[in-house]
Amino acid sequence: MNHELLEQARRLIGAITRGLSVRRGEGVAEVLSRLAMQDLDEARFREPGPRGLAVLSHLPQSIGETMLLDPGLAAAIAAVEDSLHWVQSSSYTDALLGEGFSDNYGWSHIIGPDGFFPGDDFLLGLLMLGPVRHYRDHYHPAPELYWPLTPGSHWSIDGGPFVEKPQGATIWHPPMALHATKTDATPLLAVWCWTKDVATPARLKA
Ligand SMILES: [Fe+2]
Repeated sequence: MNHELLEQARRLIGAITRGLSVRRGEGVAEVLSRLAMQDLDEARFREPGPRGLAVLSHLPQSIGETMLLDPGLAAAIAAVEDSLHWVQSSSYTDALLGEGFSDNYGWSHIIGPDGFFPGDDFLLGLLMLGPVRHYRDHYHPAPELYWPLTPGSHWSIDGGPFVEKPQGATIWHPPMALHATKTDATPLLAVWCWTKDVATPARLKA
């Protein structure tokens, strides 16, 4: 048992909880309610098994920007950054999403099958999207919250226009709602959460 990593994982979840607790956006209360139901007992803890991706070349810059929003959360992410298991969907190819996309995107679980605690029909994680990228329209049954920790990301819901969201905003996607994300020069680091119905993965709009 890696007790230091267990405490770091709990500190990260605590920092996310505290950060979201002062936000009033749609879906935040649902995330906090579901998060409070998750079993974070030592007996459920496991090491994710570190796995990196090319997009992590942007993580130091993004952690630096997160320092300006929430220093405690930035420190908590930095403490576990070498322990996270980063993955991407095998169906998200450069042919579908643009040359170089697979080197510029990925996510990890904090709570979930690849995270520190398995979760009960609940996923909490981090997403990274490199500069000048378009993660185009996709959908899934799970209700989803995004909390961008870096400035200048753009979000579209239900095929609507892209709206720039400031660092620290929250974005809520109801079940099956189409949604898309764009970045400019600044890479995106975001906390994300699927509050329920997590068995069905995201699908790109045909
Ligand atoms: Fe999503």
